[in-house]
Amino acid sequence: MKRYNVCVIKGDGIGPEIIDEAIKVLDVASNKFGFEINYEYFLMGGAAIDVFGEPLPKETLQNALNSDAVLFGAIGGEKWDKLERHLRPESGLLKLRKELGVFANLRPAVIFDELIDASSIKPEILRGVDIMVVRELTGGIYFGQPREITKDRAFNTMVYTADEIKRISKIAFEAALKRRKKVTLVDKANVLETSQLWREVVVEVAKEYPEITLEYMYVDNAAMQLVRSPGQFDVLLTENLFGDILSDEASMVCGSIGLLPSASIGGKVGIYEPIHGSAPDIAGQGIANPIATILSAAMMLRYAFDETAAADCIESAIKAVLKDGYRTRDIASYGAKEICSTEEIGTIISDYVRNDER
Ligand code: IPM
Ligand code: MG
Repeated sequence: MKRYNVCVIKGDGIGPEIIDEAIKVLDVASNKFGFEINYEYFLMGGAAIDVFGEPLPKETLQNALNSDAVLFGAIGGEKWDKLERHLRPESGLLKLRKELGVFANLRPAVIFDELIDASSIKPEILRGVDIMVVRELTGGIYFGQPREITKDRAFNTMVYTADEIKRISKIAFEAALKRRKKVTLVDKANVLETSQLWREVVVEVAKEYPEITLEYMYVDNAAMQLVRSPGQFDVLLTENLFGDILSDEASMVCGSIGLLPSASIGGKVGIYEPIHGSAPDIAGQGIANPIATILSAAMMLRYAFDETAAADCIESAIKAVLKDGYRTRDIASYGAKEICSTEEIGTIISDYVRNDER
């Protein structure tokens, strides 16, 4: 029997609750499809700061590096906001991404037909929206040196090398080949030199993919186009900061930030995590939506383990559960038959996985 080692990082806020539901569903799926997952649990973020005084303890990083995949909840919270930057929970996550070398962050934004009314955008504009945001994850202004803050002046540096742009572009073009064959490069080439380099490199990479249509869009326009007519996007390729912002926007186009998963790949070991944060305001109340995390677990099965049938089964179970009217509170007003707690919807999804006859 195939056996996979997963480094589980629950994190802070709603992290533990949503990860528990993802594991519940993974257990049923692994049983059904005949593979085994061995979970090891490690601390990161605020939870690690409280115990070890640092957001990414050595043993967490070591285990992540030795695992087959990292399943990650969310980190952060007000409690740790005042710490020095390198001690903050977010620094732990950024370091983990960097150390694992996961330069490609895939954030699919897909509309569930059943939830079309959950979006603040008109249904006719939304039908069929299926975007893959390909966000560069280990470069740009998040990591650029030098950076500094003094009492009355601060600066960051946005830096990209041609190699960094080339490797993420290839991921985007390869993804587009399996989709609707269009890549939109989002940048600020009318102002930024880094964006100018992105355009030069991406045009070169595009020559290797003659069947793909390449379009360019300035990031301000892209923010507008995403709500004006999201259906025009297939693969949206962009740098780290723009991708952070646009993927949150894309999630609300899809109805709730509680629905969007992500896979961070390209390095030694991938990280699979929901795109939302730790939502400390609702932590511990049993009302968080675990669907983004369960979908992230499905991405882990697909990308890290090649367990396609199990991943498909989880994704279609989630569609069926939504179709049958089960909702968490964030998406409650739209076609709800039953409002479920975090735990209840996790159990219902796992039952659907178990009973799925394909
Ligand atoms: C995300 C988050 C992170 C980011 C934070 C928590 C550092 O917003 O994964 O989108 O900015 O990348
Ligand atoms: Mg973000």
